[in-house]
Amino acid sequence: MKIVRSIGILGILASLFPAAAVAAQKTIKVGVIAEFTGGFEQGVQIQNGIKAYMKQHGDHVAGKRVELIVRDTKGPAPETAKKFAEELIANDKVDFLAGFGMTPNAMAVAPVATQAKKPMIIMNAATSVITTKSPYIVRFSMTLPQETEPMALWTAKNGIKKVVTIVTDYPPGIDSETTFVKSFTGHGGTVLASMRAPLMNPDFAPLVQKAKDAKPDAVFIFVPGGAQAASFMKVFKERGLREAGIKLVGPGDITDDAVLEAMGDTSLGTITTQHYSAAHESAENAAFKKAYAQANGRGVRPNFMAVAGYDGMAAIYAVARKLDGNIDGDKAMALFKEYKAASPRGPIEIDPATRDIVQSVYVRRVEKVGGALYNVEFDRYPHFKDPGK
Ligand code: PHB
Repeated sequence: MKIVRSIGILGILASLFPAAAVAAQKTIKVGVIAEFTGGFEQGVQIQNGIKAYMKQHGDHVAGKRVELIVRDTKGPAPETAKKFAEELIANDKVDFLAGFGMTPNAMAVAPVATQAKKPMIIMNAATSVITTKSPYIVRFSMTLPQETEPMALWTAKNGIKKVVTIVTDYPPGIDSETTFVKSFTGHGGTVLASMRAPLMNPDFAPLVQKAKDAKPDAVFIFVPGGAQAASFMKVFKERGLREAGIKLVGPGDITDDAVLEAMGDTSLGTITTQHYSAAHESAENAAFKKAYAQANGRGVRPNFMAVAGYDGMAAIYAVARKLDGNIDGDKAMALFKEYKAASPRGPIEIDPATRDIVQSVYVRRVEKVGGALYNVEFDRYPHFKDPGK
């Protein structure tokens, strides 16, 4: 009798009937695994985007409180990411895994999501193959082939004939290089050289110098956003490539909105292709930016990682509402597969065959708008799927 009282009737029901355990929960738990420190800080923008969504829509859905449990992998640390996922599932009993700024961390967690049947919401990691690693993965960011192919098509059509490519030497960089080289050369362009920089502590100077010496019309660049984007741009300026008439093109990670102002005027004229710009003009983006500022202060600008955090959270709320707060991994995945929304970036939908996002990819040029640097969109590849699979 004593035991019965201390466990409580719901506890007993829950141990006898797992469905009752689900019904007994008063919270919906989201385990956020991402990179918040250590030079790779994708997690900061992802979490800012999540917070913006919760600021706008509250912290309750389907009558339950949404609880975030956040873990910092401190950069690319697959073993740590995997351990966090296992702990969040076993100890914290999370309903969703979310975050994942970097490919190595997402790849390491995929088998854990499969084993536990937990939906895994990717909010940045962008190597094409990731979604094939677990049927419980759905991606709200982009893939590198998806961002890159429009760049190759645009470059080939706009008088750029000879290009040197520089990418970070890990899966998203290789996805980007492969896509660009194939598509650009397929449309008549010439790639003079392809170089790769290490993921950890890259020294861009020798690569940028070699690129300049090859006398291309443009350098194509992929780095994983943030600090590395800023340090690449500094070297591009110091080595005088602009003065030599060499253009800079690439997926939008190089003109990351979070660091664009800090890069200064060297970034002016950089042409990139991507799905989100803080300068995107729409009612949804205006509302997003307002909520982002309320949640995170006025000093920071949302970037592509923030919009994926926001949209991923919107999808979690939508799925939780449809399941009346009773989260079941398989039922949730069936709903994610039919998800469509009007995102701050434009219309988005999940491709049920790949669980990857379908969205517009915009062509943008860095320009000054009201005295500040922005990626100004001027062309668009609508309803663009990941061409990587
Ligand atoms: C990734 O590791 O998948 C990644 C990280 C940063 C980016 C893009 C992709 O900007």
